[in-house]
Amino acid sequence: MAGIRLDAFTGRYAQRTAGMTASEIRALFAVASRPEVVSLAGGMPYTTALPLDAVGSLMSDLIARNGPAALQYGSGQGDPVLRELICDVMALEGVIGSPDDVTVTVGSQQALDLITRIFIDPGDVILAEAPSYVGALGTFASYQADVVHVPMDAEGLVPEALREAIAQVQASGRTAKFLYTIPNFHNPAGTSLSDPRRDEVLQICVEAGLLVIEDNPYGLLGFEGPPTPAIRARGGENHVIYLGSFSKTFAPGLRVGWVLAPHAVREKLVLASEASVLCPPALNQMIVSEYLTTQDWQGQVAVFQKLYQERRDAMLNALTSMMPSGTTWTHPTGGFYVWTTLPAGLDAKVMQPRAITARVAYVPGIGFYADGQGQRELRLSYCFPEPARIEEGVRRLAGVVEAELELLQTFGPSFSERITGATTPSPGLA
Ligand SMILES: Cc1ncc(COP(=O)(O)O)c(C=O)c1O
Repeated sequence: MAGIRLDAFTGRYAQRTAGMTASEIRALFAVASRPEVVSLAGGMPYTTALPLDAVGSLMSDLIARNGPAALQYGSGQGDPVLRELICDVMALEGVIGSPDDVTVTVGSQQALDLITRIFIDPGDVILAEAPSYVGALGTFASYQADVVHVPMDAEGLVPEALREAIAQVQASGRTAKFLYTIPNFHNPAGTSLSDPRRDEVLQICVEAGLLVIEDNPYGLLGFEGPPTPAIRARGGENHVIYLGSFSKTFAPGLRVGWVLAPHAVREKLVLASEASVLCPPALNQMIVSEYLTTQDWQGQVAVFQKLYQERRDAMLNALTSMMPSGTTWTHPTGGFYVWTTLPAGLDAKVMQPRAITARVAYVPGIGFYADGQGQRELRLSYCFPEPARIEEGVRRLAGVVEAELELLQTFGPSFSERITGATTPSPGLA
């Protein structure tokens, strides 16, 4: 029948595909990229601010000088020159590692995939902050992991809650395989793990025999002072697997990230990566090495910091002056995101069609949890739109929230669901 495509392979897919669903962000992409919509949804770095002419020339010089090698297969572990340079980059956050223990990956997203592949069997427990990075949750779901969330507050992951979560998992007869954490400028929460808590979290995990997966793509994008030393930098050599990326400090389109792991883990990671992609792209790795050695890349990071700080300020000021009372939000000191909680009784997912009609896009909170929490929450990002657009976006959003509150006061809580037909997932079912 024209227009309807049935899947002839239903029933033949592996069980792991059952956990694979399009993320809230993917679903929004088409609508949020319409020009009339102010998108506070995507987390796209502002690549327009890169020195594009210089990057263009270094790429063509590279091919002229070293084309055959740049266009050739490379090492499964990644180019040794880049691995050396990655160690210099990590040292800026206090991480001292050997190039031998670094594996270059296709973005840190592939690192998440490889780590999950080598550690997780179906049903294994992963501890992760509540909320957590949607891309990591997607990977964990595709390996049929059971994610147990650990609450956060304004200082990041709550150590006491981590202790309790570990004990509860143990009491249920299971062992958590690792803690997945984003200590700097969290996606989506916008908060950072405080300095003293970094030591405490590491100590708790060491005592419990729990690996820490420290995912740190935003660490150099702080606005207020030098970076806080990483968890890996606090004696975590044998307990922490550290993930970095050039996506936010340089260019996500190159898809170059890395993992620093204890030696034995590194060997497994390389085998898993070879089975998956043979080797990371030689050309892109060389472009990154050239960029790091011939350009003032740290000056460029400072340009990004200033630009994102202005946008963060624009968003926080607009939220303060326009949002109806009862709405709260986090105050990021770096990175891309503000995590917003709506007044009681509102549902960000239910409200979304009306926000799109009002030409503003955000990501509803439920996508950032594995267990259906987050109905009142939403993620706003300020990295891509210019400050005036951010202000306009928040103005539109504030209007939508006001209108929702009026409906709620007039008709009661079930109104939103009745008119959109939307249902709210209950905890444990999403
Ligand atoms: C916390 C976090 N981890 C990992 C990634 C993946 O980054 P990439 O694969 O581009 O290095 C992102 C991207 O937004 C992220 O926010």
